[in-house]
Amino acid sequence: MDSFLIRGGNRLKGRVEISGSKNASLPIMAACLMARGRSRLHGVPRLSDIDSMNKLLGELGCHVYRHPPEDSPREKGPVLNGPLDIEVMDESRCEARYEIVSTMRASICVLGPLLGSRGRAIISMPGGCAIGDRPVDLHIRGLQRLGADFRIESGNIIGEVRGRLKGCRMYLGGAQGPTVLGTINVMCAAAMAEGETVIVGAACEPEVVDTANLMNKMGAKISGQGTPEIRIEGVDKLIATEHRVIPDRIETATFIIAAAMTNGELELKHCNLDHLLAVEDRLSEVGIRVERENGTLRVSSARRLNPIETTTQPYPGFPTDVQAQLMALLCLADGMSVITERIFPDRFLHVGELNRMGAKIRKEGATAVIQGVKELQGATVMASDLRASAALVLAGLVARGQTRINRVYHIDRGYEKIEEKLIAVGADIQRVRE
Ligand code: EPU
Repeated sequence: MDSFLIRGGNRLKGRVEISGSKNASLPIMAACLMARGRSRLHGVPRLSDIDSMNKLLGELGCHVYRHPPEDSPREKGPVLNGPLDIEVMDESRCEARYEIVSTMRASICVLGPLLGSRGRAIISMPGGCAIGDRPVDLHIRGLQRLGADFRIESGNIIGEVRGRLKGCRMYLGGAQGPTVLGTINVMCAAAMAEGETVIVGAACEPEVVDTANLMNKMGAKISGQGTPEIRIEGVDKLIATEHRVIPDRIETATFIIAAAMTNGELELKHCNLDHLLAVEDRLSEVGIRVERENGTLRVSSARRLNPIETTTQPYPGFPTDVQAQLMALLCLADGMSVITERIFPDRFLHVGELNRMGAKIRKEGATAVIQGVKELQGATVMASDLRASAALVLAGLVARGQTRINRVYHIDRGYEKIEEKLIAVGADIQRVRE
């Protein structure tokens, strides 16, 4: 398992190219299962989760081809990816095996597309993960409302459709609010159902909107995406199309915070601050300035960071996927901050590791109280999930001395070439391969 060695203290300065969104790419790739012909996707990042989805689509009868990278890198920094083609060759395959689902929970997003277009899906039941239990009851309930039958057999979810799915009006919210991938699963299945479906309590995340936009290009009739009420008029077929996935808003936020923590100045290319208004709002209170100019953001920060309070919420609220990185930043604020996690109340594995680096964080249930310290110190720490790992990298960038982060495969699931991007703007970070 690879590790990162980071020597803290360098000010980050320069330009970073933001990648396409992982969390939009995964359901978008799954939605390509429903289309006839060859779909072409631009901006899909090279990540281990994307490799797992490629493999899964291959097992589900698709031919997946990644074009060579677009020629030269822009100035410093890594080379851009070539487009990804997905073509369905064999519609008889409907099984997502344990070996893949256990490496990537997002495999669940093939459930709706398979039921909508092939009438059958067998998906190994996703287990819990480092950030909590992660149930899929809402996905199942929504698809049942469309007429799918489900049973659990030997750890697999088996879904079947007799005849065709039928549209209906349904409420899809749960105790923690709306579900992102659940909304997308139901929306995909409903796209080829008979009649109209209305999802009330739908997730409003930009990744839901991007998937709906792709599907509309394929011939689906979806409206209301981005609001809590999505309306889907079923169609008989979907035809392959070409699409560019949205920029990764979580990677963008992570680099904004990196600039702020190192007292640096970064220019972030290809990003959309409209998807990060809650993050911008909270960070401006901390003292971080983000200026936008077309698709580029310029980040700079005050030397003194103010403490703040924030709560993670469904979109457009502050994203749970930026909670750990914000916590790393607030470790250096001048006073006491409070973060409450409303989406995944157990998503605090980074707390212990940050404390090993000299942070002063106290956890009380789903709330963390962060007492700012003057500096963090390098230590050997363990990455436990994707965003917790990002928080440790951020902490390592400013810590005194050397930080070793073990198990960085978590970060490879969601941040494309993170060390190359950081090195290009002045960080001292090195991957140690094992
Ligand atoms: N929930 C249920 N039942 C369900 C589904 C969800 O109770 O059937 C609960 C969850 O336990 C959670 C809340 O609803 O408390 C929201 O979960 P959601 O379903 O929205 O999460 P997801 O769709 O499984 C996606 C992202 C996550 C991100 C969440 C929330 C992907 C591949 N994953 O997960 O991303 O944290 O939405 O925004 O899109 C990450 O990238 O690090 C990551 C974990």
